Amino acid sequence: MSNLGQGLLVTILVLSTSVWIGGYVAIGVVAHSAATTLDAAQRVAFFRTLGRSYLRVGTPALVIALASGAVAARDQPWNAALTTSVVVAALLVILLAVAVQQARRMTRLRQAALQADEDPATVPAIRRGRRSADILRATLGVLSVVLVVLGCFMAG
Ligand code: HEM
Repeated sequence: MSNLGQGLLVTILVLSTSVWIGGYVAIGVVAHSAATTLDAAQRVAFFRTLGRSYLRVGTPALVIALASGAVAARDQPWNAALTTSVVVAALLVILLAVAVQQARRMTRLRQAALQADEDPATVPAIRRGRRSADILRATLGVLSVVLVVLGCFMAG
């Protein structure tokens, strides 16, 4: 690939990875602020909108990052680092789909609790779901960082 092509590829890879990782960290900070400033009904409405809007930003950023990473790695020898990267990338995509479905289910459970005049925080299914959501989000964050580290070591 020419120097210009290589430069463009790395630019796309760095920008899309920044959006994915930066967005992930930013939503974590926003989630903390929302939890301390909004009441239960406002929080559900807020995350419903944020989650749906961010899906249209985060998912394309992840797809572009993975695609440009795959092009950048095309001349790499097929070794343990590359195999691990492919597995981690696949897991990331699958777990993101699972996490989005789980988050939608949580929104529905919270809406039902609020309509029944219950405090969502006291509903057992919601408490269990919160733990699963936390585990899923932490795993997605770790997989994302692992992928960046693997990519940097392969490039270095
Ligand atoms: C790129 C990453 C992310 C995407 C694409 C995403 C997407 C979504 C979607 C689609 C929903 C469901 C909205 C609905 O009700 O239809 C949602 C809900 C939610 N998201 Fe995210 N999200 C991301 C990262 C995060 C992170 C990092 C956190 C917090 C650390 C977070 C916290 C929440 C919360 C609290 C909800 C409400 C449902 C629940 O309590 O689990 N999200 N998100």
